[in-house]
Amino acid sequence: MIIAIDGPTASGKGTIAKRVAAHYGFHLLDTGLLYRAVARAVLDAGQSLQNENAAVIVAQKLDFAALDESRLRTREIGDAASIVSAYPGVRQALFEGQRLFAQKKPGAVLDGRDIGTVICPEAEAKLYVTAAPEIRAHRRWLELVKADPSLSEESVLEDIRRRDERDSTRSNAPLKIADDARLLDTSGMDIETASREALRLIETALSRKG
Ligand code: DC
Repeated sequence: MIIAIDGPTASGKGTIAKRVAAHYGFHLLDTGLLYRAVARAVLDAGQSLQNENAAVIVAQKLDFAALDESRLRTREIGDAASIVSAYPGVRQALFEGQRLFAQKKPGAVLDGRDIGTVICPEAEAKLYVTAAPEIRAHRRWLELVKADPSLSEESVLEDIRRRDERDSTRSNAPLKIADDARLLDTSGMDIETASREALRLIETALSRKG
């Protein structure tokens, strides 16, 4: 059983994916971490993010089981991940590992940008989680401002708009809603409500599939 959860940055999809995985007792893969790990390793090796070959080599060797979240969940690495994720060779190198993960028993939840469209088009349930850019920026700013009190909400909104543009206009596996995904707009919802609504939509999708 595969549950695909896609959507733009700070839409709430990560938290929702965690809760959905816990609810069903399924394995969880946050695929954004894979692209973040590639970007981090390229920078750690002193290479430029524009060096596509360097990024592809890192992606080919990436160990999915050894992702150090604390070094990957920064604003800079999120932006860097968006750059390396546009390289077709990077996406191809990470494809098989994601496919394998999705086959885990009793089931898997994968969250990202292209899970329902490219990685697991056969997923039994697909959600596309989104929210207005201003609301996503406000949520992200609340998370980041604790560590950096000088951070302005406006600059976070600019980041989000830039990332949305890059992720949705790249030619390879762009961020877009799958034809058979259910849309969840979390703009007016707190995370409890959004998670409940996600579970309801998934249950509906699963019951329609029999
Ligand atoms: O979800 P996130 O913010 O951790 O993702 C970081 C970047 O990785 C995002 O801007 C685009 C890229 N990404 C992707 O291209 N495909 C995925 N399945 C997940 C993330």
